[in-house]
Amino acid sequence: MTARLIDGNALAQQIRSDVAARAAALTRIGRTPGLAVILVGDNPASQVYVQHKVKDCEGAGMRSVLEKYDATISQAELLARIQALNEDPTIHGILVQLPLPAHIDPQRVIETISPAKDVDGFHVQSAGALMVGQPGFKPCTPYGCMKMLESIGYDPKGKHAVVIGRSNIVGKPMAMMLLQASATVTICHSATADLGHHTRQADIVVAAVGKRNVLTADMVKPGAVVIDVGMNRNEAGKLCGDVDFEGVRQVAGWITPVPGGVGPMTRAMLLVNTIEAAERAAA
Ligand code: GUN
Repeated sequence: MTARLIDGNALAQQIRSDVAARAAALTRIGRTPGLAVILVGDNPASQVYVQHKVKDCEGAGMRSVLEKYDATISQAELLARIQALNEDPTIHGILVQLPLPAHIDPQRVIETISPAKDVDGFHVQSAGALMVGQPGFKPCTPYGCMKMLESIGYDPKGKHAVVIGRSNIVGKPMAMMLLQASATVTICHSATADLGHHTRQADIVVAAVGKRNVLTADMVKPGAVVIDVGMNRNEAGKLCGDVDFEGVRQVAGWITPVPGGVGPMTRAMLLVNTIEAAERAAA
């Protein structure tokens, strides 16, 4: 059996078109959606990510403001800037690109963003809302993974989902979203004794570790849905995920490729959160 691919590029394109139509409707009433992206320092990967975010906004007819600060900016100055953006009615979403320089407390920065503008979904209020099943912004990567499941008509209800990774950005919110969808959820991590023991029982595996070949064919139940959140490079410098794609695709029922899987969906879901923030502000 060869797994069917879940095409993140195609799904992201549909989502971007929907967002663009909603953005145009807001622009017609003089309420163009606006996203502020803050970049501190000169981390090369972060620079690429923020450029993508700005470009995606423009492509969907939304306004974006990129604010770049030197790595020496003080925490107080950064917090003051976020407070000003919280009060700016033309800005509906605020995103501070992580990581931040060591002298700045990222949690303090995130908690300063108004929950109404927290389009990354990283604020404790957003995390708490997800935990108790209340409306709130959901972190873009796991939100995109849920949309990928939906796109193939896969209902997690009653299924066993194994999430590998426990980060605040992906693993934990992913587990919460699957639980909310009535899956039975296991969270595995670096201290899990026998990862394969858990993954072999899973109907859905989400790999979000940041390490190549964490999931190999012998660890996958035939027909399972495998979602690969990883973004790594192999010896040849080629982009690859956490999953041994060539091996696992022989066993799984569905699989997301890297590149062209979760990555474009993460970007698309930021646009969804931003348009929702703008629509709520306009309502
Ligand atoms: N750094 C790596 N991923 C992300 C993300 O999704 N949002 C922000 N703000 N920073 C990141």
